[in-house]
Amino acid sequence: MITTVTMNTSIDKAYFMDHEVQNGTVMRVSRCRNSAGGKGLNVARAVKLCGEKVQATGLAGGFNGKYLESLLEKDEVQYQFLHIAGETRCCINILDECYGSTEYLEPGCEVAAEEEDRFLQRFPEIIQKSKIITISGSVPRGISKNIYAKMISKAKEMGKKVILDTSGELLKEGIKAKPTVVKPNQDEIELLYEVEIHTIEDVIKYARKIYEQGIPYVVISLGGEGALMVCEEGVFQGKPPKLEVVNTVGCGDSMVGGLAVALERNYTSQEALKFAVAVASANALSPNTGDFKPEICEKILSEVTVKRL
Ligand SMILES: Nc1ncnc2c1ncn2[C@@H]1O[C@H](COP(=O)(O)OP(=O)(O)OP(=O)(O)O)[C@@H](O)[C@H]1O
Ligand SMILES: [Mg+2]
Repeated sequence: MITTVTMNTSIDKAYFMDHEVQNGTVMRVSRCRNSAGGKGLNVARAVKLCGEKVQATGLAGGFNGKYLESLLEKDEVQYQFLHIAGETRCCINILDECYGSTEYLEPGCEVAAEEEDRFLQRFPEIIQKSKIITISGSVPRGISKNIYAKMISKAKEMGKKVILDTSGELLKEGIKAKPTVVKPNQDEIELLYEVEIHTIEDVIKYARKIYEQGIPYVVISLGGEGALMVCEEGVFQGKPPKLEVVNTVGCGDSMVGGLAVALERNYTSQEALKFAVAVASANALSPNTGDFKPEICEKILSEVTVKRL
């Protein structure tokens, strides 16, 4: 089984507008879609679609927390959240023809130190039956910046493999605990090393730097260019075919889902890269996050190329 961790969950509300948004007026929403949000929940949906067993964990609170759980039931994703006193936040994405997507992200509630401790205490029991753990995204206010490092150390001590997909201080601290895989995108390595990256050689250079810190698989996602992997066998690039993209939000999360499934199935590193690129790119063809049509994914998989750099 695969467990996906989402500390900063939300109710994601997509507002589809028939008319161009005009500030300072009353706007009527033509259609609204609510989904269980937070990057790890996109990972969970992608894993489920690949046909592997998955459970979601993290923090959920209040009536929105309960609603989040009911949305996951519709997605047929099992969950074990720690219930916190604060209310799970809402994030609104307004979609209109003129501006495309405009997002309003609530700050979310503050989590108490005692709630963080309780989550860490329950964590070993939650992940007990899983072979692979994914940790994604940001954390709510009040949570320590080394919480992911603590989770990674515990999971590794229990013999689990861990995939970390986050940014900034959380990524920096998390790397110190040596997860099995990290999956930053180009912006995230630029932030990590405070540099600007212009060439694929630069990407390889910084991916190697992370690898040398004891991370067995460093996967850098490069949007439509696919992804680069540095591992013991060498450096590889996986490229998807050219696609008529619908929505790339959640592509990185779907890639993490693909990597988790590949680890669960003991794929070789090159097979894992190929599979993860296919799952991620299939997500770009769906309007929803962590969503794809399995038959489209199969077709893309047959067209993904992997070459040694
Ligand atoms: N335009 C695209 N065409 C084909 N595949 C894409 C495209 N954009 C993304 N992908 C696929 O998704 C993978 C991850 O994308 P990306 O690098 O954008 O991740 P990300 O920035 O972490 O995304 P997010 O965090 O929003 O989920 C890529 O490696 C690629 O396989
Ligand atoms: Mg990402």
